[in-house]
Amino acid sequence: KFPKRIFSGIQPTGVVHIGNYLGALQKWVTLQNSGEDVTYCIVDLHSITLPQDPVALRQSILKLTATLLSIGIDPGKSTLFAQSSVKQHSELNWILSCLSTMARLSHLPQYKEKTQKLKDIPLGLFVYPVLQAADILVHKATQVPVGEDQVQHIQLAQHLARIFNFKYGTTFPICHALIDSDLGGRIKSLRDPTKKMSKSDPDPKSCIYVLDEPDVILGKVKKSITDFTSEVTYEPETRLGVSNLLQIHSLMSGKTIEQCVEDAKSIDTGKYKFQVAEAVIEHLNPIRKGALDYLKNPDYLISVLKAGGDKASERAEETMVEVKEKVGL
Ligand code: ADP
Ligand code: NA
Repeated sequence: KFPKRIFSGIQPTGVVHIGNYLGALQKWVTLQNSGEDVTYCIVDLHSITLPQDPVALRQSILKLTATLLSIGIDPGKSTLFAQSSVKQHSELNWILSCLSTMARLSHLPQYKEKTQKLKDIPLGLFVYPVLQAADILVHKATQVPVGEDQVQHIQLAQHLARIFNFKYGTTFPICHALIDSDLGGRIKSLRDPTKKMSKSDPDPKSCIYVLDEPDVILGKVKKSITDFTSEVTYEPETRLGVSNLLQIHSLMSGKTIEQCVEDAKSIDTGKYKFQVAEAVIEHLNPIRKGALDYLKNPDYLISVLKAGGDKASERAEETMVEVKEKVGL
């Protein structure tokens, strides 16, 4: 009964890394180009759950916008906007917060991870998965392309949609996560392949950033952690480091894993790293150059976000009129 609508978001904190790109952003472009109804959000309100420098945050938003345009997001086909410019996200967040429980939120694994080293936990960091649910529900999204790390948050969005629908009558579709389960869904840290590659990792050598210069990429791949076996084999359960490199290589070059393994038959993992770096550099070079060009024109980037925000607000407001009516507000 609900029309197919795709929604996804990305935080402007830090710089886009190849985990974001291979796990989510490439799919954003594919869905856009197959003519789907797509809405993509720069979730800047999520970026202030931890301390942020205002100047750096504003610059990160523009940098992310430039990167998204450069990888192929077309504002004529996708609604691209900044979350803070559409106030209905925050409004629905409050209403959904009133349907959430402390117990449910404190069990989310990301919350446990993110708060491990904090003495004082900001309330925003605790409730941000509810805001994320609001992001999805306010656009009545039916599909949400994300990496594997977001599964529990999508489940929370489904849960809150069900609770709202049960209490007030059917209003929200139950969304589904679109996850690249075979390869891109969980790209690992180059420094510790038991962990996912993450923007919030303080070690910049753990991530390849989409805008990294070629020599930086080569340096990071060369220093990536593998094991003491010199052969290049794909064993994602036991040989995490080299298998991660094979996944990255395969996704960046368009070759299958088997082909990558075959091509590396006569070399050791040390030499293989040069092949991986070359494939990554070749793929990312035009993206970096394009993004740097867009960044020369910040007014254009701001106008893209403004137009997207106006469009997103219209749809979000329709939802909020219906929601308030049902809640009795
Ligand atoms: P991060 O987790 O690095 O802070 P975001 O939370 O902004 O990045 O996530 C943006 C998108 O990238 C989400 O869909 C998320 O699931 C995906 N993503 C993040 N890290 C990875 C990873 N290591 N592998 C695959 N996808 C990822
Ligand atoms: Na994340």
